[in-house]
Amino acid sequence: MKLLLLGKGGQVGWELQRSLAPLGELVALDFDSTDFHADFSRPEELADTVLKVRPDVIVNAAAHTAVDKAESEPEFARKLNATSPGVVAEAAQKIGALMVHYSTDYVFDGSGTRPWKEGDATGPLSVYGQTKLEGEQLVAQHCAKHLIFRTSWVYAARGGNFAKTMLRLAKEREKLTVIDDQFGAPTGAELLADVTAHAIRATLQDSSKAGLYHAIAGGETTWHGYARFVLEMAQQAGVELKAGPDAVEAVPTSAFPTPAKRPHNSRLDTTKLQTAFGLRLPPWQEGVARMLREIL
Ligand SMILES: NC(=O)c1ccc[n+]([C@@H]2O[C@H](COP(=O)([O-])OP(=O)(O)OC[C@H]3O[C@@H](n4cnc5c(N)ncnc54)[C@H](OP(=O)(O)O)[C@@H]3O)[C@@H](O)[C@H]2O)c1
Repeated sequence: MKLLLLGKGGQVGWELQRSLAPLGELVALDFDSTDFHADFSRPEELADTVLKVRPDVIVNAAAHTAVDKAESEPEFARKLNATSPGVVAEAAQKIGALMVHYSTDYVFDGSGTRPWKEGDATGPLSVYGQTKLEGEQLVAQHCAKHLIFRTSWVYAARGGNFAKTMLRLAKEREKLTVIDDQFGAPTGAELLADVTAHAIRATLQDSSKAGLYHAIAGGETTWHGYARFVLEMAQQAGVELKAGPDAVEAVPTSAFPTPAKRPHNSRLDTTKLQTAFGLRLPPWQEGVARMLREIL
């Protein structure tokens, strides 16, 4: 079996390089790859790459993920998040490949408190959310055999992340202020990559499993709860902090105005995924604790 991974250097892309490797021959590309073109700002070249590589499975982890920046460059964001995935999906359909793509909780308007189900009405609040919604629609429309995973609050040990920022600030300051009115679940890039590999195998054996799924870690928290957890773990590990968990002040989203609006309710119902693939999504604390053990 041959797999084509696009966006290999991102948080999820990096972990996919690991989790997809045992499934078959893996061709992993980034926007500056020279052997094949994989620059999502040049959609016209992507079909050629797919047709030349002729993979059985395409996994797209490339995206415009700078949520605030997207507000001032909507056409560029649309090219990366919608037009290019659509072109890849058309080419995937031509060669009969399974296409895997990632979307986001930002396709929803964040109202209410109930976890969103796959079939719920969308209502993006931002350019990022809108272009990601267009992307998932184009993929579903152009490639019958697809897996789309909507996820949220993705972190990885590699590169910058929220936990690292909180640790740095807690060493520098006596008090932190963190938002407590956005609800979701921090989800490890590792977990997503592992779920993706399992789901690919299952879908190749039974194509009726193709479709749209919500994929996040179990449980829920706020950014405030997440920050407190990170600092508690750091203290337990003997890290010296100026601000401990009790010095994290809870503030509303309005305390940090940003160009892009964020949804308040990013809870996603993962029942469909867990049932279809026989998988368990561990509580978010397990993955965050593991990541912290790697970085502390
Ligand atoms: N991060 C989150 O919290 C989150 C939440 C919900 C859903 N998602 C979705 O999950 C997926 C993976 O996200 P992630 O967290 O792994 O994002 P990420 O770390 O920002 O990775 C995105 C990748 O796309 C690449 N890229 C940027 N411009 C490109 C271009 N013109 N052509 C080709 N590749 C380009 C980036 O390269 P450079 O790094 O070199 O720019 C990076 O490797 C995305 O579909 C994202 O929308 C993420």
